[in-house]
Amino acid sequence: MSKNGWYRLGTAALLVSLLVFTCGCGIFSSVAVGEADAHEEENANLVVVGFSQIGSESVWRTTNTVSVQEALTKENGYFLIFNNARQKQENQIKALRSFISQRVDYIVFSPVTENGWDTVLEEAREAGIPVILLDRMVNVEDASLYTTWIGSDMEEEGRKAGRWLEQYLKIANRQKEDINIIMLQGTLGSSPQRGRSSGFMEIANKYINWHILDQRSGDFTIAKGKEVMEQILERYEDIDVVVSQNDDMTFGAIEAIEESGRSVGRDGDILLLSFDAVRDALRLVEEGKIAVDVECNPEQGKYLAEVIGMLERGEKVEKAYVVEERVFTKENVSGYMNSRTY
Ligand code: AHR
Repeated sequence: MSKNGWYRLGTAALLVSLLVFTCGCGIFSSVAVGEADAHEEENANLVVVGFSQIGSESVWRTTNTVSVQEALTKENGYFLIFNNARQKQENQIKALRSFISQRVDYIVFSPVTENGWDTVLEEAREAGIPVILLDRMVNVEDASLYTTWIGSDMEEEGRKAGRWLEQYLKIANRQKEDINIIMLQGTLGSSPQRGRSSGFMEIANKYINWHILDQRSGDFTIAKGKEVMEQILERYEDIDVVVSQNDDMTFGAIEAIEESGRSVGRDGDILLLSFDAVRDALRLVEEGKIAVDVECNPEQGKYLAEVIGMLERGEKVEKAYVVEERVFTKENVSGYMNSRTY
């Protein structure tokens, strides 16, 4: 049962403002202003959720958005107000304030970067609206500013990549060689960038012969990944490993590497370690172009619905829910190809 009883779609004015605010989400597109009354009763019992998504920078992100939209449907008892922040924290803060003024039942958001959320989260708390963090984390003084978080252990993902490299060099009998490494980082200050960097570095710091030549941000996109990789290839002749913090940057990096006349893969010039494990990347794992892909699971909508359900029933929820993830290499990937939908 929705807690903010007065938040209903009875007036045309409110409906129009929602239409403008949620432009692009498609949820309201079939509801004409004149039909508002007919929907009023039907909507009265829906749980209203405002969801501010970071943007649509990657295949992972689009899949994450769809998974939330498919879980929080009217049929399942939800009224979802979706906002795409287009990679800007200021847009997310605006969206959160708009959710607060609309007195939604829950605010869900995936913060683009970790810092700078204290004030707006205070405002949500004052309005009595529980906040659920999805995918990425915030760095706040007071952890009670959010109710719970559902996402991936990004630091562990970084460690998994480091451990794979450790094992690979051991089996290839290259433990004593100098290993020159480039880190293609995601959006600076974001949870995946921070977590994957520190997790990988935890392993890398054990080896004096692993040299981090450079770390640069490709912002989690194909275009930026390619552009940054091109600059790196011009600057460094001898690169053994590229740790690319998501698959989209990896696609761009592969293009740049191949266009420069170098090759990727275990038998090639550069070994590529990637994150996410979307279907097109798994194909490249199968082909041998990506050496290892550490999964980051975007299908979080069902967990989100479960957690909101618990809160609606007045049940206690955990402070953090970590989703399950695997590691894909040439050795195991074929078994997963058919079931990968994104
Ligand atoms: O926060 C998850 C990361 O964000 C994914 O690795 C990346 O693809 C996305 O843009």
